[in-house]
This record gives sequence, structure tokens and C-alpha cells, in this order.
Amino acid sequence: MSTNHHTPSFSSKVGLILATAGSAVGLGNIWKFPYVAGENGGGAFLIIYLLCVLIFGLPLLMTELFIGKRSGKSAFGAFRAIRNNSRWQWLSWLCMITAILIMGFYFVVTGWCFHYLIAAIGHVFRGADAITLTEHFQSLTGNLPVTFGYTLLAILLTAAVLWFDVNKGIERLSKILMPLLLIMMFLMAGRVLMLDGSNVGMSFFFQADFSKITPQVVLAAMGQCFFSLSIGMGALITYGAYMPKSQSISATSLQVVLLDTAVAILAGVIIFPAVFAFGVDPAEGPQLVFVVLPAIFEQMSFSWLSSILFFSLLCIAAVTSTISLMEVAVAFVTDASSHTKHPINRHKAVILVGVIIVLMAALCILSPTIFGWFDKISSCWLMPLIALAMALFVGWFINKDDILHEFGSQRGWKHHLAFVYLQIIRYFIPLAILAIFLNGLGIW
Ligand code: PFF
Repeated sequence: MSTNHHTPSFSSKVGLILATAGSAVGLGNIWKFPYVAGENGGGAFLIIYLLCVLIFGLPLLMTELFIGKRSGKSAFGAFRAIRNNSRWQWLSWLCMITAILIMGFYFVVTGWCFHYLIAAIGHVFRGADAITLTEHFQSLTGNLPVTFGYTLLAILLTAAVLWFDVNKGIERLSKILMPLLLIMMFLMAGRVLMLDGSNVGMSFFFQADFSKITPQVVLAAMGQCFFSLSIGMGALITYGAYMPKSQSISATSLQVVLLDTAVAILAGVIIFPAVFAFGVDPAEGPQLVFVVLPAIFEQMSFSWLSSILFFSLLCIAAVTSTISLMEVAVAFVTDASSHTKHPINRHKAVILVGVIIVLMAALCILSPTIFGWFDKISSCWLMPLIALAMALFVGWFINKDDILHEFGSQRGWKHHLAFVYLQIIRYFIPLAILAIFLNGLGIW
């Protein structure tokens, strides 16, 4: 990413796809998806989740990238650049608030990943069972200075990437790392499926018990879909602004959605069979993968090397997401201050945002309740709300022909699809999100 927002910094199409996929694929897929699915009925959750990805995910990803590409601005300047007035400025601020809430807990979990990577290098979990691993996790989260130290490491690393503008390196690295992550996950799934009792986990994940679908499950699935795809927070506006003009928004969005969903399902295929084989409760919450993953490695050949490799990949997947999260806030601060008497340059913005994140993360470390609130408020409420507003913005406040021009040709099937897209973001998505909100609140 460039320091200068007017220079598109993704020189290649692959670069943009990888950066967007890097933002999407992260802890949301590997850490959050399995535990939220575990808490919300497994198979029933999976079906609702996939429906959400199809109905909301793809069109909204396109919508957010479109706002960025069209305006060429960050979340701060995008709406006002398109409308030529600041009536939608509240939406920019809402993006910033959501980014800050998410970063509060996301960096803490990234810190946990760093801890597990270091533990894997020291082969700390040799021969450990589920009980020992649960105790290990609890002693980590109970030790506030250590947790804070790892969180700080994650924040400093992300800040360094944004400071030195070394995203290009990360882009290049992602070309190797993304496929490697997928290969590792396939290998782990293969091993887990050979464990005794793994079929129970597979049925839990793939057999839907429709009686388990409640308004809360639908709300959780919708929130997870937005979180996992990084929709409704301005990250994709920022990336859309860096998009080469010739690149197709729909093709990029489709590729990112498919990759992100594949990684989430693969994580479920790894975690649930292991959960049942090792006698762990699938509704164990945020600690789920940290208890199950090291146990899986102990069953694999080359356990030491495999666990180091996997936790390294997990840390990298987490960091490519924290980069996109922090970039939203940094670009926001530099843009917002650029027309004032005291413009804040990129370096100062990195420091300012870094300090805010440290404070938010400290709150999450001190109180698991605050951790949970930040998570729920941002993914279940703020992200869908912002996405709803973005759908209305593009659907009703941007010239219809511009949208048809971006997404389709003059006639033919592409034109029809663009027309369908327009109807979806104008009517269907706002009404569906509203219905899920009212349902979740018990009002309807
Ligand atoms: N999509 C990321 C994940 O699944 O881990 C989390 C995330 C990154 C959310 C960036 C929002 C965002 F802007």
C-alpha cells in the first residue's frame, strides 16, 4: 500500500486479490468460525452461514469495493467524494469506531497466536492431552503481563509494516503463503479424519438440526459472515481505492468469497472431528482451537515441524488481517487531518492509532466481558448496520447507469446480472438485515 492515496499501489490484479483475501482470511476463519459454529449448533449454523455468504457476502463485498474504486479515497473521504457533500460523514466515523473495537480484541487473539507459535518452537505441548491444554490456555489468559506482552508484539509488528510501507513484500509473500496454508490445512484434515470417533464431529458439522435455528443463531451467522469477509468496516473501501481501474470488481469479489469460505469450512473439518475425538466441548468458546490444534499436532507425524509451520501460517494470516484493520484507521486519520491546520502524517498516524489500540486491547485483556462485547457489538450489529447503509448509499444515491456500467456491459447476461445486483442491494439486503436485527432483538 502506498503512503499516497492517489497512487494505486496494487500494480497487479493478483496483488489486489491477495491483499483482499489476506484481509478476509484470518482468525475469523480459523479461530472464530469453529467456536461460533460450535456454540450455535454446528450444521444448522453452517447452512445459515453459507446462505448469508451468498445473499449478503458477495453483493456487499462488491458494493464496498465499488465505493472505494469509484471514490479513490479511504473510508474517511469516500462518501463525501462521491456525493460532493458531507451528509454521509457519520458512516465514515462509524467505520472508524468499528475498526477500533475490532482491533481491541483481534490483536489480543493475534498475541495468543504468537504465544502458541513460540510454545510450538519450544515443543511445550509434547504429549499433552485436552485437559493440560485447557489449563495452559487459562494460565496464559490469566497471566495479564504475558498476554499484554504478546499483544504488544502483534501491535508493534503491524505498526512496523504500515510504518515502513512493506506491504509489497507481504503481497509477494502471500503468493506462497496462502497456498501453503491451504495445503497444511488439507493435510491436517486428512489426519484428523483418521482419528477414532471423528465421524461424530463430521455429523455435528455437516448434519443440520433445524430445530437449533433460533433468531440468535441467524444473527450470529450473519455477524460471522461480515466479520470473516471484512465487510462493513471500510477495509474494502480502502483496498478498492487502490484497485487498478481495469480490474473487475465482481471477479475479484467472487474469488475472495470462495477462498474465504473454503478456509472456514476446512477449519471446521479439522476442528470438529478432533473436538469429539479428544472429548472437548464444541461450545467451549474462544479457547476452542487453542486447545484442539496442539492436540491434533501430537497425533501427526513430524509433530514439531508441523505445529511450527501451522502456527507460523496462522500468525501470518492474522497479521495480513491486522494490517488491513489498522490501515483503515491510519488512512482515516491522515485523510481527516489533511485539510486542517495540523495535518497528521502517516508516521504520526501510526503512532496515534497504535496508542489507541494498546488502550483498547488492555481493556479486552483485563475483562473477558469487554472482549465479548467488542466482538458482538462490532460483528453482529455495527458491521451489518454499516453494510446496510452502504447498500442504501450505492443502491439509491449513486447514478444507476454508473453501477450498470461498472458491473455489466450494455446488454447480454452481464447486463442482466448487474441489474439483479442493483435490485438486491436496493431492496433485498436492507430489508433482510433489518428483519434479522428485529428478529434478534425479539421485536419481530
Ligand atoms: N476478516 C478477518 C478475519 O476473518 O479474520 C477479520 C477482519 C479483518 C475484519 C479486517 C474486518 C476487517 F476490516
